[in-house]
Amino acid sequence: MTLSESLPVTERAADPANIDLAAFPHGFAWGTATSAYQIEGAVAEDGRAPSIWDTFTRVPGAIDGGHTGDTACDHYHRWREDIALMRQLGTNAYRLSVAWPRVLPGGDGPANAKGLDFYDRLTDGLLAAGIEPSVTLYHWDLPQVLQVRGGWPERTTAEHFAAYAALVAERLGDRVTQWATLNEPLCSAWIGHLEGRMAPGWTDLTAAVRASYHLLLGHGLATQAIRAAAPGARIGIVNNLSTVEPATGGEADRAAARRMDGHVNRWWLDPVHGRGFPADMREVYGVDLPERPGDLAAIGAPLDWTGLNYYFPQVVTADPAGPAPFARQIDRPGVPRTGMDWEVDAGGLEALIMRLTEEYGARRIHITENGSSYPDTVAPDGSVHDPERTAYLTAHLAACARAARRGAPLAGYYAWSLLDNFEWAYGYDKRFGLVHVDYATQRRTVKSSGRRYAEIIAAHRSHRSR
Ligand code: IFM
Repeated sequence: MTLSESLPVTERAADPANIDLAAFPHGFAWGTATSAYQIEGAVAEDGRAPSIWDTFTRVPGAIDGGHTGDTACDHYHRWREDIALMRQLGTNAYRLSVAWPRVLPGGDGPANAKGLDFYDRLTDGLLAAGIEPSVTLYHWDLPQVLQVRGGWPERTTAEHFAAYAALVAERLGDRVTQWATLNEPLCSAWIGHLEGRMAPGWTDLTAAVRASYHLLLGHGLATQAIRAAAPGARIGIVNNLSTVEPATGGEADRAAARRMDGHVNRWWLDPVHGRGFPADMREVYGVDLPERPGDLAAIGAPLDWTGLNYYFPQVVTADPAGPAPFARQIDRPGVPRTGMDWEVDAGGLEALIMRLTEEYGARRIHITENGSSYPDTVAPDGSVHDPERTAYLTAHLAACARAARRGAPLAGYYAWSLLDNFEWAYGYDKRFGLVHVDYATQRRTVKSSGRRYAEIIAAHRSHRSR
């Protein structure tokens, strides 16, 4: 019996009928996504050095439950089992991130052979299983040693990032073609340096704006470095975007929505599409950018693909007393929400895919993350039935299909996440996995959402082979 056949008949019947599977092209990447610190564990093994998250998780009160990524899903040791799970789901792609402090413990300088070997084995294991690796170079785990030297507010961090990218591309570039430089630089800059809720935990607008600039410069320099090291590479960047609507039709809220759109969307999209940093947002922040000749050209070099992480829409009101961008999200009563308290709106995903297509001329779009956290319960027979996550997945895939039908160059979808994992400041209580992880035993159990995903993938495959 396949995973999809094991779904109750009532759940099986409805789903592919609601998704226009024919809209997805042949060769579509059906994937899952994870990141190094959230799943690997083994933080002090085989020469890995601490990252800013190892440090931040030690700050009292920073992480719910005082959790850390020390063990996480123990993927460092269980990666074979995890590849077998991907195969069970029927996926043909997997988005992983490389831990910079595992392969370059000093931030720069000598490589750690054992760290590189791990990603080498993982790459080979994926390819042997018929799963294409999509490698993200930075998913927030800056080597702590570089933080001590100033971190992302300093230009040298961008330069070190490019050297690290070259090292990894030299090692894996003969087998990996799909590369992302950064994951969600918005979180590193705004949440890490302005709001203080993520590592390194700062609340300093000047540092945050400088960090945002150097993250994007790092993207540009790393793109050049990867292209030099691995000429066949297809390189993109992964941004988490939101639709932004004003709470009311009043001018103050409409201006707030424009600022929030600048803060979460345009600040990250415009420069990498060769348009420079948005002038209105430069004014909002009032911080000089550390620009040097040639930077904008590097940042704006054409992308091979664009990564879109989508979770929720934003409805905002003006907040003149708050931090930049002087706008804040409101809670709308009666709107469905996930366990993260995030509004559910699959239409937002369609709208953002169309915006990337029409406004930014994206050549190829991958939904590099999309998913939902709900409190799961394990039934006495060990199964995990998660109808809300299943409905979220289905609705968002249907939105992708609508966008593809409208002409968007959609090339892949990576469900967040393969496994329940360390959800940053929320620790382990928020579960996004298609596969449940019992952290006491590390036992993995495919949830009904995972079985549903397998069914959709299988249905697409059989449709395409007809
Ligand atoms: O878990 C995170 C991931 O690391 C980045 N994107 C959002 C996910 C859910 O919050």
